[in-house]
Amino acid sequence: MRMKTSLLIAALFVGAGPTLAQDIEVGSGLYRVHCATCHGIDATGQGPMAGVLVIKPANLKRLKSENGGVFPTERVVKRIDGRDPLVSHGSPMPVYGHFFEGRDQAIKAPSGQPIMTSEPIVDLLAYLQSIQVE
Ligand code: HEC
Repeated sequence: MRMKTSLLIAALFVGAGPTLAQDIEVGSGLYRVHCATCHGIDATGQGPMAGVLVIKPANLKRLKSENGGVFPTERVVKRIDGRDPLVSHGSPMPVYGHFFEGRDQAIKAPSGQPIMTSEPIVDLLAYLQSIQVE
């Protein structure tokens, strides 16, 4: 019973309908396979590839703290799927749009505005949000 209540509260907290299921475990697995080579297994930007990159991979644990305490959902989604023009204009950061195609999902930006993306990216976001440090 208590379990059910906390799940309900979690669902309300995310503020989206029942279709939005963010799976941190799945996101963590995707992170390890696709992102850790550059951003590091601990996400601080010290992955094995970091040494050969001219532009250093970002510390992904500080996305929130470096954005005034608000997780920059929209920027992160667009970096990953390649909609951010920085990515298409020669950032070393690969474009994952095709890779992470899947069931469409909407996620809410801090402003409350929905951003369309895919289920794997929503899971990745859940993982990234879970590792933020102050
Ligand atoms: C080939 C190396 C490489 C891989 C693999 C990689 N990245 Fe990056 N990433 C970078 C580099 C370098 C930067 C910093 C330069 C830039 O912002 O263009 C960056 C920047 C970012 C940013 C921008 C941070 C900010 O402050 O806006 C995000 C978010 C990000 N990466 C997430 C990911 C995620 C999630 C994955 C896995 C799906 C991933 N990256 C895989 C190299 C990589």
